[in-house]
Amino acid sequence: MPRKTVVIFGALNILWMVFAASQAFKIEIFPESKILAQIGDSISLTCSTTGCDSPSFSWRTQIDSPLNGKVINEGTKSTLTLEPVGFAHEHSYLCTATCGHDKQERGIQVDLYSFPEDPEISFSGLLEVGKPVTVTCLVRDVYPFDRLEMHLLKGDHLMKNQEFVEDMDVKALETKSLEVTFTPTNEDIGKTLVCGAKLHIDEIDFKLKEKETTKTLQVYISPRNTVISVNPSKRLQEGGSVTMTCSSEGLPAPQILWSKKLDNGNLQLLSENATLTLIAMRMEDSGIYVCEGVNLAGRDRTQVELIVQEKLFSVELSPGPQIATQIGDSVTLTCHVMGCESPSISWRTQIDSPLSGKVRTEGTKSTLTLSPVSFENEHSYLCVVTCGRKKVEKEIKVDLYSFPSDPKIEMSGLLVEGNPVNVSCKVPDVYPFDRLEIELLKGESIMKKKNFLEDVDNKSLETKNLEMTFIPTTEDTGKVLVCQAKLHIDEMEFEPKQRQSTQTLYVNIAPRDTTISVSPSSILEEGSSVNMTCSSDGLPAPKILWRRQLNNGELQFLSENTTLTLISTKIEDSGIYVCEGINQAGKSRKEVELTIQVAPKDIQLRAIPSESVKEGDTVIISCTCGNVPQTWIILKKKAETGDTVLKSTGGEYTIHKAQLEDAGVYECESKNQVGLQLRSLTLDVKGRENNKDYFSPELLVLYCASSLIIPAIGMIIYFARRANMKGSYSLVEAQKSKV
Ligand SMILES: *[C@@H]1O[C@H](CO)[C@@H](O)[C@H](O)[C@H]1NC(C)=O
Ligand SMILES: *[C@@H]1O[C@H](CO)[C@@H](O)[C@H](O)[C@H]1NC(C)=O
Ligand SMILES: *[C@@H]1O[C@H](CO)[C@@H](O)[C@H](O)[C@H]1NC(C)=O
Ligand SMILES: *[C@@H]1O[C@H](CO)[C@@H](O)[C@H](O)[C@H]1NC(C)=O
Ligand SMILES: *[C@@H]1O[C@H](CO)[C@@H](O)[C@H](O)[C@H]1NC(C)=O
Repeated sequence: MPRKTVVIFGALNILWMVFAASQAFKIEIFPESKILAQIGDSISLTCSTTGCDSPSFSWRTQIDSPLNGKVINEGTKSTLTLEPVGFAHEHSYLCTATCGHDKQERGIQVDLYSFPEDPEISFSGLLEVGKPVTVTCLVRDVYPFDRLEMHLLKGDHLMKNQEFVEDMDVKALETKSLEVTFTPTNEDIGKTLVCGAKLHIDEIDFKLKEKETTKTLQVYISPRNTVISVNPSKRLQEGGSVTMTCSSEGLPAPQILWSKKLDNGNLQLLSENATLTLIAMRMEDSGIYVCEGVNLAGRDRTQVELIVQEKLFSVELSPGPQIATQIGDSVTLTCHVMGCESPSISWRTQIDSPLSGKVRTEGTKSTLTLSPVSFENEHSYLCVVTCGRKKVEKEIKVDLYSFPSDPKIEMSGLLVEGNPVNVSCKVPDVYPFDRLEIELLKGESIMKKKNFLEDVDNKSLETKNLEMTFIPTTEDTGKVLVCQAKLHIDEMEFEPKQRQSTQTLYVNIAPRDTTISVSPSSILEEGSSVNMTCSSDGLPAPKILWRRQLNNGELQFLSENTTLTLISTKIEDSGIYVCEGINQAGKSRKEVELTIQVAPKDIQLRAIPSESVKEGDTVIISCTCGNVPQTWIILKKKAETGDTVLKSTGGEYTIHKAQLEDAGVYECESKNQVGLQLRSLTLDVKGRENNKDYFSPELLVLYCASSLIIPAIGMIIYFARRANMKGSYSLVEAQKSKV
């Protein structure tokens, strides 16, 4: 601000006019009587005379202190220049002019002031909402300060007004200030603060004595609510990227600083942007990331921890970590790599034995096909995947089993009531057979059970067998025989683990109680008919087989009907007939003897050599029947005293040394139940000498010569005895009792 010298004109002009009019020795001073000067300015006091050609001038202060100024005399003028004006100049200055003896004096009062600058507004600190702050308004280098008045306005509101009326002990430039403490609010944002200062000295120009400074209130809000959002996640995969955005509230809007916390605790600045994007993260980039919202009023920080995980490509080996496969089947193991673009895939077994399979690899997928699966494939297979520097192995265990077919029930033979039978249940091609259990059940009840817990030191498919013997009864028919085979391998998953076969029991009964009924009788007359009916019990109902026994022992087939009918029988039909009841369980035999009888005929009775012999000759009386079997032949010698039955052999009676008494009538009776035939002859014995053999009549029963003669001998004796006892006999009766 320019310094100004204030000159008071009014009175001076009047003086000057008075002086000019008189033209006598006069003295004048300018400015007149009083001058107000601002400290530091420069002023000139001028003393001038009229009415004297060469006056002499002198200057002094009223109290004779030094002038502190520079005097320049020029003709009728003397100028005292004070520069710069200071407190040393606050005096009354006297100018004395001498012209000859004339001496004139004039005085002038120099007054000072100082108010050089606008007020200054300052704050004790930042203006923060809610925080008390002291505002100071300050005016520098004021003089005389007892005339100073200051005020502070916030908007239209007068906050403080003050006058500084204290006594001034020493002359000095003073700095005066006004202080107000207040707490800013949100409404204060944007308001103006005005500090005004006024120096109450009338002589000073208005512009100079009032000064004002205006300041807009800058209100701050310290950062707060600093938050971080992380996208996509705080957990990252190696090589991944993450974007973190930080926001913080405050006034002015806080600046965002992102940094990372180092191991030593220091922060390493990363960015001054709210959004921080980190790409291609490595594991070393894990750590604590700090966001700070900063403005002039303060700072607020928050942090987030990022974890970068090692990027693992993954290998999936299907199906599962374990697979149960049936020997002979086909299985495909699939190794699938994820998270690696061009992996190298290989396969091996855990014990580095040959793979025994076919490998196909395409891109990120590799298959190992085992077909057909055999014992060589019972391994743990590993899929080895290399991706970059990393290597991953995945394992799958191939477990084998074999249980391909249902058990087979076998019987050693037909089920026949009462006959022990061996049942076996066979389970073919089992592996591992030490886990096998076979059970045989009849209906619901277990008959036998077997485990095969032997050590398996050789891998092979084996056929295992459960055997038992049982005696079937008829009640078993219709029951079900069940063979159950279980392969107890809980640790493997496959189906089926149980197989079974069933067989419905059918128990046979071997033929028995075979009987033959003959109608009307087993002894028949030639020409009659006979029905022979055979029956036999058994299950299934036995088949009947009729046969006839031939002479040579062979059997001749006749019929399969139960009833064998012979119509109009002939003698040749006599014989043994055999009936057999037959079913699959066995046979039962019964026989009957059929006798066809014919009346005796064609009997020939002869005397050999002749019917007329001499005494002493040997004579054979021979009776032969026709071809009719089972005919009794009785040789008798008729006499008046009673007939004598002769003991004959084969129908022949031999008379050794015939006597006279041997002469007579001989009779042969051929007889069976059907009829009787008689023949007789007369033997003539001619006497020669007296010597006669003794002849005792003997009992004779003659059986007609036939093939049956030998077995019949016993009977002949028996019948003979009987006949003897009773004196008569019935061959028919005797025959009947035999049947
Ligand atoms: C901050 O982000 C903006 C916009 O994304 C971008 O233009 C600017 O360069 C970034 N500044 C820094 C220091 O990263
Ligand atoms: C049944 O088995 C036993 C013992 O194995 C044997 O001695 C017997 O001969 C068998 N029986 C049949 C009818 O096979
Ligand atoms: C294993 O069984 C097979 C076939 O039954 C046979 O050839 C082989 O000799 C056996 N090996 C041993 C060690 O018993
Ligand atoms: C034999 O059986 C048939 C049929 O049953 C019957 O007609 C006939 O009279 C029987 N014959 C005799 C001799 O019983
Ligand atoms: C008896 O068997 C014969 C064949 O041997 C057959 O032709 C006939 O019909 C059967 N008769 C009866 C009654 O079964």
